[in-house]
Parts: sequence; structure tokens; C-alpha cells
Amino acid sequence: MSQPVVLGIESSCDETGVALVRGTTLLGDSLASSVDEHVRFGGVVPEVASRAHLEAIIPTIERALDDAGLGLSDVDAISVTSGPGLAGALMVGVSAAKAVAWALDKPLYGVNHLCAHVCADVLDHGPLPEPTIALLVSGGHTDLLLVRDIATDVTALGRTIDDAAGEAYDKVARVLGLPYPGGKHLDLLAQQGDPTAIRFPRGLTSARDMDKHRFDFSFSGLKTAVVRWVQQRQQDGLDVPLNDVAASFSAAVADVLTAKAIDACQEYGINDLQIGGGVTANTQLREMAGERCAAAGISLRVPQVRLCTDNGAMVAALGAQVVDRGLAPSDLRLGTDSSLPVSQVHVPAR
Ligand code: KG4
Ligand code: ZN
Repeated sequence: MSQPVVLGIESSCDETGVALVRGTTLLGDSLASSVDEHVRFGGVVPEVASRAHLEAIIPTIERALDDAGLGLSDVDAISVTSGPGLAGALMVGVSAAKAVAWALDKPLYGVNHLCAHVCADVLDHGPLPEPTIALLVSGGHTDLLLVRDIATDVTALGRTIDDAAGEAYDKVARVLGLPYPGGKHLDLLAQQGDPTAIRFPRGLTSARDMDKHRFDFSFSGLKTAVVRWVQQRQQDGLDVPLNDVAASFSAAVADVLTAKAIDACQEYGINDLQIGGGVTANTQLREMAGERCAAAGISLRVPQVRLCTDNGAMVAALGAQVVDRGLAPSDLRLGTDSSLPVSQVHVPAR
């Protein structure tokens, strides 16, 4: 019998994503983003995001089905991000998923957004090597994970103790007068700059941090250092070399992320590293991870950029893994959990 077709729905932040996946094959997908509506506020406004999800959800489901050349009757199971994320935004996706599951009388699976980011890569490179170390870097999260089984066994080794990497990108970009979300703008500037021009701090990398925070991250001090450096230049009446600031800031972020990820691989004797989340689109991070993994004999898996940022395909992909393991579905009482822990990969019925 062929593998089931899973419809995945993502609505945890500002992207409404829907996709259809069979096994590790992406059959079709569609994405609607409300990012333009948040630009003037300099960050995602939860109420605006929820409203946009509500308007986009049905057309996005229809477009994903069209893209796959399928109808609703072809869907065998539904998976949906039930956390972590913005409560109101999550609620739209979960409500839509429940409605589809109920109308079709098909099983519903609430899944974890962070694990879905890790799982996205199966659509590009096939089943994950297990165990694997996964580094998840997005606007809301920076986590280092030990993945023994993507559907059942994910352990957090460390996380950011303040800002997420993407959040630091967005805040620094704002100070430099770049539009929101700033990551990709800083990335473009950085490509014209010298990453060794300014030595910005590397958070939680000193010898005394190794006891308690070996696999944790901190980007707030780095962000403050960049702001101070820029303000000092301005006070001194000097030009701010945006390219060099962007390149040196990006180098500091990529340096810490890759060093800690490789340290985790070596500590756990694992030769596979998986990177996911929106910041994975970053040029320096991709390059540095590639070079350092090659030097350490670690095989690196990085999905294509459109699978790194929030999308429905990753949710359908994780749903397909959960279905494949024969795990218990959620039921129509499935709620949302803004701070769903990464160790809870899916949310079975209580
Ligand atoms: O995973 P994602 O799409 O959404 C969240 O779940 O947060 O990640 C969005 C984050 C934003 O902070 C954005 O500035 C950052 O990813 N980002 C980048 C790049 N492209 C997106 N950061 C650095 N370099 C990039 N090229
Ligand atoms: Zn995300």
C-alpha cells in the first residue's frame, strides 16, 4: 500500500503555510505571508498576524491542493503546528486543521514547530540520519538538539538565554536603519564587508561558561556591543561602515553557532549535523558551517532556503514521520501551546 498523504498546516508566526507530503516527498505547497503588514511596526504584531491567517487559511489550503493536483478526498491525515508560537496565530491553523479532520473523518496530529523545522530537510535529502545533532536558528529560537528519533525522541542540549539569533539580526538591522525583518538585508551588506574588521564579543564561549552554558547561546551582549560601536562612531563624527559592521556581526553569530554545534557533535560522538530555521538562509553561517564540518569530519545537512523559513511542508513532513511510526493521533480537543517544549514532538489525545 502506498504511504498516506499528509496535509500540513503552519500558522505559528507570520506565514500561513500549507503543504501535502507523502513519505518524504513534497507533493505540493502554498505560502501566504503577512510580513509586509508588520514592516511599519518593526516586528510581528500578534493580532495583525492572526487576522491575516484567518483571511489566508482557506485560499492557501486550496492552492496547496491545486499545486499537488489533489482534492481533499485524497488526504489521509492532517498535521498542524500546535506550538510553540503566537497563541492567536496558532489557534487559526489548529482550528482549520480540526475542521478539515472532522469533515474528512481523518486523523489529526498536533506537532511541534521546532521539530518540524528540523524535519524539513527530509524533503530535500531523505530520512534523517539518527542520531543527529540539530541546530535550530530562527527569529524566535536558537536551540541545539540531540535527535535520536525525529518523531519520538528529541532532547534539548542548549538554547539561547536571551535573544534568539534571528531576533538579534532583526534588532541590529533596525539600529542600522534597515527594514524588518533585517536578517536578509544584513546578509546582503555583509557580503560586501570585511568579517574581521571589528572584533565583536562571542557570548557564552569563555572557559568559565563551559560548566553551566556549554551548549547555550547569548546574543544580547553582542547586539549591545554593535549598538555601542555604531553610536560611538556617530558621536565621533565618523562614517559608520555598514558593510563591515554587518560582516563582523554576522561572523560573530556564525562563529558561536557553528563552534557550539560542532562541540556538541564531538561531545556526543555524532558525525551528523542538521541545520534549520530562518537564519539558516544566512550566507556566512552556511559557509562557515560547511568549512568547519568538513574540517571536523562531520557531514552537514542544510535544506534549501525556502524550506528553512516557516512553511507548511515541514509540518506535513513531520506529520508523515509521526504517522509512519504509528503514533497516537490528537483529537478535536487539541489546544495550542505557545511554549510547547521541544521534547514534545507531537501532542497525542489526553
Ligand atoms: O524560521 P523563521 O522564518 O521564523 C521563525 O520561526 O522565527 O525565521 C525568521 C528569522 C528572522 O529573524 C530573519 O531576520 C532571519 O530569520 N533571517 C536571516 C536571513 N534570512 C532570514 N537571518 C540572517 N541572514 C539571512 N539571510
Ligand atoms: Zn520557525
